[in-house]
Amino acid sequence: MRLDKFLAHASGASRKQVKQWIKNGEATVDGQTAKSAGQLVPEFAQVCVRGETLQIAALRYIMLNKPTGTVSTAEHADERSVFALLPSEQRRALHVVGRLDVDTTGLLLLTDDGQWSHRITAPVSHCPKVYRVELSDELSDADLEQLLKGVQLNDEKQLLRARALVRHNKRLVDMTLGEGRYHQVKRMFAAVGNHVEALHRLQIGGLSLDAGLQPGQWRELNKAETEAVFSKPTDG
Ligand code: URA
Repeated sequence: MRLDKFLAHASGASRKQVKQWIKNGEATVDGQTAKSAGQLVPEFAQVCVRGETLQIAALRYIMLNKPTGTVSTAEHADERSVFALLPSEQRRALHVVGRLDVDTTGLLLLTDDGQWSHRITAPVSHCPKVYRVELSDELSDADLEQLLKGVQLNDEKQLLRARALVRHNKRLVDMTLGEGRYHQVKRMFAAVGNHVEALHRLQIGGLSLDAGLQPGQWRELNKAETEAVFSKPTDG
């Protein structure tokens, strides 16, 4: 990151003020007086202004077990919002990585790292998601085959297919999807004449919902977990 951007971000000062510090020789990078606003700040470098060390707040990565009845909109103030489950001082700058419907439960990610969430949700990323689906009617072998081959949904150019379908019993299946289209799971089962009674997200890539998190509880991800989302699901 450029030094002027780093200083502005870490201190909250204006670009004009930042330039002045650099011009006055008041900014140092690893003990050396900074020479230009455009010089790059190496990772883990110690940046000081007038002898005071400045730091950019670490990016945050959170997994939450979304309870039914909560909305995953960007609107922090809505009392039904998943953000209401976090202490108010922790909500700032966080956004949801791939929404779930109001009645869907399970693994929801929150972050302030736009690049990370873009990598997960971008259509080209094909970051697979695994859902546990409770159905109103028994899923026949023919319908299971059809969902694996692909179904045509309204307003979709291409057939959408399940990457994997694991049947626990005739009405309970785990479905892996490569994309995240609007109401995709519900619409795909509707396309074969079935109905989703309950929907729970179990995994995003190789990251599983922590079984120790009760509905409404959340925790920070560790570094390995932030990378696990980009690997294959365990049953996908
Ligand atoms: N598919 C749906 O239909 N709903 C969700 O919440 C997620 C995937």
